[in-house]
Amino acid sequence: MSHYFENDQNLPSNLKKTTTTLFDQNYIFYTDNGIFAKRGLDYGSRLLLESLPYEELKGPILDVGCGYGVLGIVVNKKTNLEVDMIDVNRRALHLSKRNIKENKCSNINAFESNCYEKVTRKYQTIITNPPIRAGKKVVYEILLKAKDYLMNEGTLYLVIRKDQGAKSVISDLKNYYDVSIVNKSKGFFIIKAKTC
Ligand SMILES: C[S@@+](CC[C@H](N)C(=O)[O-])C[C@H]1O[C@@H](n2cnc3c(N)ncnc32)[C@H](O)[C@@H]1O
Repeated sequence: MSHYFENDQNLPSNLKKTTTTLFDQNYIFYTDNGIFAKRGLDYGSRLLLESLPYEELKGPILDVGCGYGVLGIVVNKKTNLEVDMIDVNRRALHLSKRNIKENKCSNINAFESNCYEKVTRKYQTIITNPPIRAGKKVVYEILLKAKDYLMNEGTLYLVIRKDQGAKSVISDLKNYYDVSIVNKSKGFFIIKAKTC
């Protein structure tokens, strides 16, 4: 069975058009087999979007592991700030690019990158629903290396579930960032990690 973070060219496509309403705005998101949350908006991703302090957010913003693009697209629409989105899964990136057009976004870009491999600049804000199934090494690379891609006083926002090790992630992040818990619901933690 292939995983949502693998490039499996043989997996048949089953393109789905999903609709989501967030903050009174309707969004169209195309999803497909072989990507995360192919049925539509994941609870943790929704909670992260509902918990972000939009008035305080600064750009440019990087969405790491963008999947079909929901986090970056909603944040771009709500703030008009510049957003880059990266993912290792080409099918997900293809969907992100399509969804950027479907939702008439501007000042937003999606490109392939294994963690930060192809990232060449720094950001004020990084957002992520990290790929737990890809394993601890990848998750920690995304969370800890974010520091190298954040500007001074930059902020990382992430969502993680209690049963996926939220408590130990919080305690490990504290070695590198000023950490606070922004929201909690149904076992999901929304974490803010500020560079210090
Ligand atoms: C939990 S999903 C979140 C997707 C999307 N942001 C959302 O909220 O629906 C994590 C994403 O990370 C991507 N990913 C996995 N390993 C990665 C890596 N090494 N570098 C970049 N992205 C990766 C997966 O392909 C997947 O799209």
